[in-house]
Formats: sequence, C-alpha cells, structure tokens
Amino acid sequence: MTTPALHLEDAVKLQKVLELVRGLDLTAETQKKIRNVFESEMELGLAKNPPVASSLQMENTFLPKLCDGSEEGDYLSLDLGGTNFRVIWLRIKSGAVVSEAVQYYQVPEDVRLGPGVKLFDFLAECIHSFMDERQLKGQNLPLGFTFSFPMTQRGLDVGILVSWTKSFNCSGVVGEDAVKMLNDAIHRRGDTDVNVIAVLNDTTGTLVQGAFVDRKCAIGLILGTGSNACYIERADRIEKWEGEHKDVKEVVIDVEWGAFGDNGVLDFIKTEYDKEVDRNSLLVGSFTFEKHFGGKYLGEIVRCVLVRLTKEGLLFQGKTSEELLQHGAFTTRFVSLIEEFSQQNFFNCEKKAFNKFLHFRDNVNGVDVNTSSSLKELGLNFNKDDIDIVKYICWLVSDRAAILVSICTASLLERMDRPETTVAIDGSLFKHHPRLRSFMEKYIAAMAPANKFKLMLAEDGSGKGAGLIAAIASRLKKQQAH
Ligand code: GLC
Repeated sequence: MTTPALHLEDAVKLQKVLELVRGLDLTAETQKKIRNVFESEMELGLAKNPPVASSLQMENTFLPKLCDGSEEGDYLSLDLGGTNFRVIWLRIKSGAVVSEAVQYYQVPEDVRLGPGVKLFDFLAECIHSFMDERQLKGQNLPLGFTFSFPMTQRGLDVGILVSWTKSFNCSGVVGEDAVKMLNDAIHRRGDTDVNVIAVLNDTTGTLVQGAFVDRKCAIGLILGTGSNACYIERADRIEKWEGEHKDVKEVVIDVEWGAFGDNGVLDFIKTEYDKEVDRNSLLVGSFTFEKHFGGKYLGEIVRCVLVRLTKEGLLFQGKTSEELLQHGAFTTRFVSLIEEFSQQNFFNCEKKAFNKFLHFRDNVNGVDVNTSSSLKELGLNFNKDDIDIVKYICWLVSDRAAILVSICTASLLERMDRPETTVAIDGSLFKHHPRLRSFMEKYIAAMAPANKFKLMLAEDGSGKGAGLIAAIASRLKKQQAH
C-alpha cells in the first residue's frame, strides 16, 4: 500500500516539521567531525600529561588476559548498574560457565539516591540472604563485582568511583573505593563471608564473556540504560600507565564514552531537545554523549520533539496530553515498538531531509498498530499524518543513535586494526530495539571499510563476565604466589 501523494498544505506543514528536527539529522561532515574529535579525545585520554583534559577516561582495567580455559570453581558475581541488583552463583569448568543461579533485587529509589553506606548495606544484605537461601555460608567464595560506573582502577580489586551516572546519586561514595565500601558493609554485618577479588565495568564483563564464546572478540559494548565500550589496547600506547608492567603486551581499556563531550567538544551536535533532556536529568551537565542515545534517554528525546511540534500546532491538532507532558512518559520501549513497523533505512543519505521524509512516508506499509496503541496509551488524539510524523521522529532519533555508536566503534576497529574483530554487545536497548543492530552493521561497515567485524549479542556479560573475571583473578593470584 502506498500513501497518496501529499498535497500542498501537508507539504508546508512537513517543511516546518523538518526544519524543527534538522539538527537530529547528522550530515556526513558532522559525522566526520565527531569522529575526529573522538579520536583526539582518545589520544588525550591515554596521554601522560595531556595539554588539555580529555572527556574520555580511557581507564586501565588491569585485565591483561582473557580466559585461557583453565578456570575452575564456584564464584559469586554481583551486578550493580541498573535499577535491579543481581547476585549470581556460577560454577565454572574449563573456563566455561556450566551452571548458574540468579536472584534479582530491586534497588529502591531512596537507596539509589541516599547515603552510600546505606546502599552498600543493602548490597550486603542481598548477598547474605542469597547465600543463606542456598546454604553457601562458610565457603568464602571468590566474588567478582560488576560496578557499572566510571571508576579509577588501581588494580583488579580497587575501583574508586569517579562520578555517579544513570539513576544513582548516593552521597559519600565519589572518590571512595567501591570494593572497600562493600567489604566494610559485609564486615559490619559479621555474618557473611565472601572474598571480593575483582571489580569490573559491565563492558569488561561483556568482553570477557564474548571472548569466551568467540576468540576474535576484542570489544565489549553496552547499549542499555547507559552506553560505553572497552577494547584491547597495546600496553605501549598507554602513556599514562605508571608502575611495573614490562611483561604486559595488551590490556583492556574502559573508554567511558558516555562522558564523551562533557568538556564541551561535542557542543556542535547538541539540539534544543538534547539540552532539554540534560536539563531534566538527574546529573545535569554530565554524560553528554550517553544522553544522546542511551536507553534511559532515547524516548525522552522523542518526547521533547513531540511536545515542541505539538506546541507549534504541527501534531495532534496542537493538543498535548497530560501524559505526554510528563518527563519520562515516552519511554524507549515506545521507540522500539514504533520502530518495529518502519522498514526504510537511509544510510548517510545526502538528499535533502524533505525528500528523505517523502520517500520514507511513501514506503511504509501495513497497518501500524504499535504507533497507534502507543499514542493511545499517552492519551493523544491523532490522525494518519501524526502517525507518520511520530514514526519519522522515532526513526530519526534511532538512526542518530546508531550513527553515534557506529562512529566510535569504527574508530576502535581501525585503532586495533585486527584482521577480524567480533564486537560483543549487551544491554536492553540493543536487545529490544528492532533495527539498531542492522543500522549499526551498515554504518560500521561504511565507516571502517578495511576492518572485518561481526556484532555478537553477548547476553549477561555483566553477570557471567564477573564470574569469569573472578576466576581469572584467582588464577593470576595463584600464579603470582608460585
Ligand atoms: C554508564 C557508566 C559506564 C557503564 C555504562 C553502561 O555510562 O558510566 O561505566 O559501562 O553506563 O552501563
């Protein structure tokens, strides 16, 4: 089914819509600029005395080796980063997870935003009840702690929190070692015995888990509530790495790209909608890049656009709804649902945005139940034009997300310059968005044409990966003791 040709009134209206969203459509020139800035920020982030501070932390994870297949034993892993906290008990044989038991605990808002001591007491209580229920007490199991926030690592088991991100903002933790705070909370209870042996970021867990499945894996990427990646870097390129590491050839670097642009270097891509999302966020002025596409923000960007267009009389006959005006009401789930019915992909399209939209509109087939049910859920009255415009906005914002992630991924691929690289990816946005993966595959291929790559879903990298890293850490400790 093809939509009938647009008449003049529509065309004028559409021109206005397109004018208001033009900034979301990244031109080839802007994309190139983002890439150049990303690459120079990476260099600055690895430098010993950079002339200006980089917004990329480029953190050394101290993880020199991935699994070698000899890892064995029972381990616990903790996963903190989203609103759910998980405790996992893993059994590892020959470097593979052979069984696991998982328990989820919802972290209440007052714990996520309250004093840090209360947060770590909460974690210790969860560990205690998990071990109690499974008769694990007295075994002093090694534990890997996935703490998915920017940390300064001083070793595999020291992680100083640099800043909170996403939905957390507990007092008294920034500048402190998360491992020590966890150990202190465990000791305060006095009834739980575990041995916190490694602290890691979720990207690192994803890389380790991915590398177990596929040896070519060299990037761990998270596209979830937030976004970030880690990759394998040559040790001799990490100028800022002090201390003894002569024998280390490669090490995993946590880029922390969520904060890319916090120093102003990305101001040229910020639209009025991005600025509004930032203004309404928990931690204003930080994690600039992540706020352009992370799962916590994607729907909110669309909502800000829809509100503006409605106020201009270009959508829903100028009438918003109470729901639409609420921050966070248009969740990323809606974007994923709406995207299910969109079929057109435009890659680095040089055409004018208007032609792009007409083309887009003429190629959408079928009855779009997802868009109408989403708009109904938001209490909106809409017609066919509204549906088309909403779909266009969802596509535009999703497409921009894919472009931004692809620019950074392509840069990492070129930097490592391996004959073939697998990128292990985890996170709710990647899993549930129906088209992000295919967008990324096309963009990355176009942006790093000389580097063969594969995107691989590495589910539960932060859980299994933490267990595997605890196992690697145990192995390294034993080797050092000999
Ligand atoms: C945020 C955190 C980062 C994490 C990412 C994905 O960006 O700062 O450490 O990897 O979210 O969860």
